[in-house]
Amino acid sequence: MTNIEERAASLSEAQIAVHWREEEYISPGARFVGQANASDPAVYDRFGEANFPECFREYADLLDWDQYWHTTLDTSNPPFWKWFVGGKLNASYNCIDRHLATKSNKAAFIWAPEPEEDKTEVITYQELYRRVNEMAALLRDFCGLKPGDRVTLHMPMVPELPICMLACARLGVVHSEVFAGFSGTACGGRIADSGSRALITIDSYYRDGKLLDHKVKADEAVAVAHDHGVDIEKVLVWRRRPGEYLSAVPMQEGRDFFVDEVMKDYRRQEVAPVPMPAEAPLFLMYTSGTTGRPKGAQHSTGGYLSYVAGTSKYFLDIHPEDTYWCFADIGWITGHSYIVYGPLALGTTSVLYEGAPAYPDPGRPWRIAERLGVDIFHTAPTTIRMLRKLGPDEPAKHDYHFKLMCTVGEPIEPEVWRWYHEVVGKGEAVIVDTWWMTETGGFMGSTLPAVKPMKPGSCGPATLGVYPVIYDEDGKTVEPGSGRAGNICIRNPWPGIMQTVWGQPERFVQTYYARYCHDTSSKDWRDWPFLCGDGAVQAADGYYRILGRIDDVINVAGHRLGTKELESAVLTVPEVAEAAAVPVVDEVRGRVVEMYVALHPGRQASKEVEDKVKLAIETEIGKVARPKNVWIVPDMPKTRSGKIMRRVIASISNFTDVGDITTLANPDVVESIRRQVYQQKTERGEAPRELTPKELEEIRSFGHTD
Ligand code: PRX
Repeated sequence: MTNIEERAASLSEAQIAVHWREEEYISPGARFVGQANASDPAVYDRFGEANFPECFREYADLLDWDQYWHTTLDTSNPPFWKWFVGGKLNASYNCIDRHLATKSNKAAFIWAPEPEEDKTEVITYQELYRRVNEMAALLRDFCGLKPGDRVTLHMPMVPELPICMLACARLGVVHSEVFAGFSGTACGGRIADSGSRALITIDSYYRDGKLLDHKVKADEAVAVAHDHGVDIEKVLVWRRRPGEYLSAVPMQEGRDFFVDEVMKDYRRQEVAPVPMPAEAPLFLMYTSGTTGRPKGAQHSTGGYLSYVAGTSKYFLDIHPEDTYWCFADIGWITGHSYIVYGPLALGTTSVLYEGAPAYPDPGRPWRIAERLGVDIFHTAPTTIRMLRKLGPDEPAKHDYHFKLMCTVGEPIEPEVWRWYHEVVGKGEAVIVDTWWMTETGGFMGSTLPAVKPMKPGSCGPATLGVYPVIYDEDGKTVEPGSGRAGNICIRNPWPGIMQTVWGQPERFVQTYYARYCHDTSSKDWRDWPFLCGDGAVQAADGYYRILGRIDDVINVAGHRLGTKELESAVLTVPEVAEAAAVPVVDEVRGRVVEMYVALHPGRQASKEVEDKVKLAIETEIGKVARPKNVWIVPDMPKTRSGKIMRRVIASISNFTDVGDITTLANPDVVESIRRQVYQQKTERGEAPRELTPKELEEIRSFGHTD
């Protein structure tokens, strides 16, 4: 054992937290503070618990309501909270129409295609209005969609994606965008779960210098949905280059339609935005959970839009005159909240980029920032780590100036934070480290940039009107400054909270409330803490440090992958009897997946089986989930009750000590797996890397089975 291992083995999680070095505060510059949307510390009083829930009027009043609400928060059916009850509004109207009087010629979106020789596209609010109306007319009249119907979108980062989302919103149709990197099979499962009748896709798109055939996934998705008993009536296919069809698979007569052709019948049509009840669902966003069934987080129209508008204004400090670039994918919640709905509700310019961060070289993001005059930049630690590794000196070569930068999606290491601050932000930009998740709709933890100083590695205090608590395993409160870690929960409802898991209300209650609900018959929100699913520690100053997921979820480059989903995919390979997915610490992607498989008796380990396992994951989930290594082992380490000990194989994969294995049913297998994996890793040039105490703790407790 190394020193670090020895130390960590003898420490509890709480002690590890205590041993972290407290980072120094860094304050925002006067120039930033002078122009900030929120610079008066009194805002914390306005959003204090004494003013809850009425404090959230401040966010809702950023929107235009067709009918003002009569009840700010209805808690009569816990934990299905209702916000702004009685109110009616339309999200598309709020993101487009209401800006036309003053901003019709201002850019709503600027789209940078991946091939640098392709033309950057500027879409003004006026043009967005036209295109969204035409698309809404097409969806309503050609597809027959009505308020409340669901539509699945499987679209990459092209302007047609937000155009479709906003067209759905205009009609009150619920959109369900599936990340384009997900496979046709994964998309099909989500179509079936949501009961969508239409699928919107594109023939192809560019990623990392390659033109990817995307329409092929639509055919798979429709077939998979059909197997689940859901039939897609129409597949609408955008063309990456209008007029050309860049997919190898044929269009299916009567089912598949080119949008640009059908659109000819809807030119210049206008569709009145449908006033929707505040509680009407706006969209579904599928996310990973602990079981294989997709989990559709359902987000509301009024509460969600108010929350993302308010948090965009105060925490991202978006003003209409900014050029804001969130370098995430709209296929994830970050893109929905902070590329499309939040920024557009505030009437700013939101930049979209089609491709990979370092294509064709790691100077690309900074060329885009310089050319477009981006002043707010928003991305994830995995992208920051990659750009730091590939082009540490690139930012200095470019003449851009950010006033604010955001990091989101994973914990950021203080070292990486400092590079972001000093090199990317040129020491001028204030940083917000925003902690939240698909389920919360918007930020839960962040410094208020002009009011609270930054502290590298900590997201900061809770966001306005959000009151967290950290509980230990027994439901006792872990006090701030105690140095102990626990499960972070939010004590109160907030407007951006998901409404339910689509079609699985029991799962919603079970997943987020069962653990710490004080009294299931209570109608008082105080009895219903919301379990976020992260471990966290709170310092004496109230700042939170997020430790990562407590459930069976692996965060790969900011993508939440459920171990059950990964393992179910692998079990489709006929040779495989058992599968277990574990995280491996990775310098750039945060975590990567390694897959352990045991074969049915009589089946031989081979490169072919290994490839089949990788292919199964790519087919069922997508390339993002492709495991780094597949280890075919004679048997899995198991408890006496037959549960796979994921923490043991996770330790092996990370070259760390496996800990106590005396309680295993088959302790002997551990050594043989260790030898096999170490030998093959060495052959592949994978060297041991010293883990931090925090990483060690995560690996050693992975899977929670003891
Ligand atoms: O573990 C937390 C991590 O990402 C998880 C949520 O993933 P997802 O639903 O895909 O949403 C990602 C975008 C919000 C969380 O449970 N996470 C998110 N932001 C941070 C973070 N971990 C540490 N610091 C953050 N700022």
